[in-house]
Amino acid sequence: MMKTTSVTVTVPATTANLGPGFDCIGVALSLYNRLKFSLADTTTIKIIVTGKEASKISTDKSNLAYQAFVKLYEHINKNPPPVLIEIDLGIPLARGLGSSATAIIGGLVGANQLAGNPLSETEVMNLAIAMEGHPDNVVPALLGGCRLTASTSSGWAVCDLPLHPDIVPVVAIPDFELSTEAARQVLPKEFSRADAVFNCAHFGILLRGLETGNGDWLKAGMQDKIHQPYRKSLIKGYEEVRLAAVNAGAYEIAISGAGPTLLALTNSPTTSTVAKAMADAWKNQGITTEVQAVKIDLRGTVCN
Ligand code: HSE
Repeated sequence: MMKTTSVTVTVPATTANLGPGFDCIGVALSLYNRLKFSLADTTTIKIIVTGKEASKISTDKSNLAYQAFVKLYEHINKNPPPVLIEIDLGIPLARGLGSSATAIIGGLVGANQLAGNPLSETEVMNLAIAMEGHPDNVVPALLGGCRLTASTSSGWAVCDLPLHPDIVPVVAIPDFELSTEAARQVLPKEFSRADAVFNCAHFGILLRGLETGNGDWLKAGMQDKIHQPYRKSLIKGYEEVRLAAVNAGAYEIAISGAGPTLLALTNSPTTSTVAKAMADAWKNQGITTEVQAVKIDLRGTVCN
């Protein structure tokens, strides 16, 4: 059999949490990063980055995709080969759209392919979760669709959740960054029983809303008391943009992942009005925003 010497890995963006599903639910979206891994006949690594905000990505050994590439080889007790990594970015960085998850998945999947696929998809997923620290971006980035992931005594349980086709997600991506680390630091370590019960109940309603497209359930189901109340002050204009979106007909908005991108769930008659309202509201705060309606990516990570 011919040895694979080059592989291109396409990984979708993800939006995590959807309000109350902190650290456990995520949805793959139709925005992509592409990472090409080619075995090189040099002794050094070479990383070339193009596309959105390319100059912000490190091109040395600290590059996250390279670190994930090395991690896989370490896991199979082999030395990583010299490699040329060409990264083409379509997902803005540090905006809550899972850009680090794409680097981790890209690096692991690329290495697995070049190594002859020694690891199963589940083993790659487990490594990715360990690297990222939480499953809600890496799992849908790898598998596609809407995924709920929970830790069990025998490993990660992954559930795919149906999303009603009438639901159209809109992402409003502001021109400022928010690091996940900073957005996690503002969260309390403990929560009251009342807040835990609140999130449990609302998350259940959200899942039914996502499945049925029932607007009342989507509206109620996106309420959260675990992370958004603490994070919204890190996002200038949050209240104004939320109000504009809801007044324009969005069911509700959520902070996408750790933010600052805001995700609105809409139905198609309201989608473009909601998108414009969110962009205008942020513009009134002096913030430039890229707003777009996106599709749910059902394929997950693709190699060719
Ligand atoms: N669930 C994580 C968080 C996602 O909200 O911190 C980060 O991308």
